[in-house]
Amino acid sequence: MAGVDKKISACYNFIMKEKNEPYRKDVAFINREKELAFLKGRLNERPESILFIHGPKSSGKTTLLYKFLEQIQREQKVDVKFMDLRKTFTNVYEDFLKAFFQVESSGEKKESRASNINIGFFKIDASVEKKIMEKRADPFKVMEAELLDLTHKGIKPILIIDELQALDKIYLDNDKDRQLITALFNFFVAMTKQAHLAHIIIASSDGYFIDRVYTDSRLKKTSTFYKVDYLAKPDVMEWLLNLEKYSKIKDYTLTETDAEKIWETVGGSMWEILDMLSLLFQQPIEKVIALYKERMRSIIVDYIVRPERKEIEKLLRLFLDRDELSKEDVTSDEEILLRDMVRQNILYFDPTKAKYYPQGKSYHMGIREYFKK
Ligand SMILES: Nc1ncnc2c1ncn2[C@@H]1O[C@H](COP(=O)(O)OP(=O)(O)OP(=O)(O)O)[C@@H](O)[C@H]1O
Ligand SMILES: [Mg+2]
Repeated sequence: MAGVDKKISACYNFIMKEKNEPYRKDVAFINREKELAFLKGRLNERPESILFIHGPKSSGKTTLLYKFLEQIQREQKVDVKFMDLRKTFTNVYEDFLKAFFQVESSGEKKESRASNINIGFFKIDASVEKKIMEKRADPFKVMEAELLDLTHKGIKPILIIDELQALDKIYLDNDKDRQLITALFNFFVAMTKQAHLAHIIIASSDGYFIDRVYTDSRLKKTSTFYKVDYLAKPDVMEWLLNLEKYSKIKDYTLTETDAEKIWETVGGSMWEILDMLSLLFQQPIEKVIALYKERMRSIIVDYIVRPERKEIEKLLRLFLDRDELSKEDVTSDEEILLRDMVRQNILYFDPTKAKYYPQGKSYHMGIREYFKK
């Protein structure tokens, strides 16, 4: 298994470094200096709280964390354990163990220690794995022992977990009375606020998962919440007016007016900008924008056609003359509908402000288009 992981990671490294891209458009990485400085700044402080990264769908949380990882590996004596739970099938307790722990031979262990860089999981040997599986060893104690060991060696342990909500339905030792996530949170609080042993960074695109953490009185006091939002207008303009520099696009350029039109349609949502840039290889900008308007309108139509249509329309109509809706301004019945709109990614809910927003400019446009007809 470890061999396969190594091969995959080597392939990714090769693809990322390969300059002779066979495609007409490359993935861009725009700005994020403020966010990267914030993350790096935390590493210079003793760990005191869990860091929760939140933000609307596809706002660039995962990409930012990978960039952060790449930068700190070059600059600092760190040990990073990066668990991307979207990539791992996490359904039962054993899946969690597989996602967090990896068995390696003693030779491998020496090799990774020598470089001080260790991306991946808690590395254990086969005998420890056997003990964990047979419940003769506590996985949390195993993790703590490694974090302590690293700290004693002057290495900063950093745990990054993307999409933590994937572990939400898992029970410790498959015992329905013991939720894994609760035990993990207790462990994270102990490792940060109490023992100051490790930096723990958790990202999630699930607004309600973050809301639960945010409203949990104990976690609220022991966590820091940081929002990663879509790009700001100056960043989008810089990108669109320099397509060759950032996206290696040579086939066309955009004028300031074109760039403004794209901003007005999808704002700073990078995934949608990338999509528009692809469409522009085949069609002129006016057509691409018309297509987007129709597409976003249909998403709203698709969503709205259901028994609660009237009530949903009433709520969405509120966004015709405003950008956000406060939780305190809605009834509990409306709240149920709004929650579903968040689950279906029509709206985003920011728990730190208790506010609902359309999921980016394109959704806001889709809502406006819907009420036009
Ligand atoms: N700084 C950036 N500049 C340009 N493109 C970016 C940037 N950050 C992310 N992207 C692009 O935006 C898209 C979404 O990014 P990413 O998957 O990191 O978002 P996310 O917030 O983790 O999404 P999710 O909410 O699904 O977890 C990807 O296609 C990525 O390449
Ligand atoms: Mg992500």
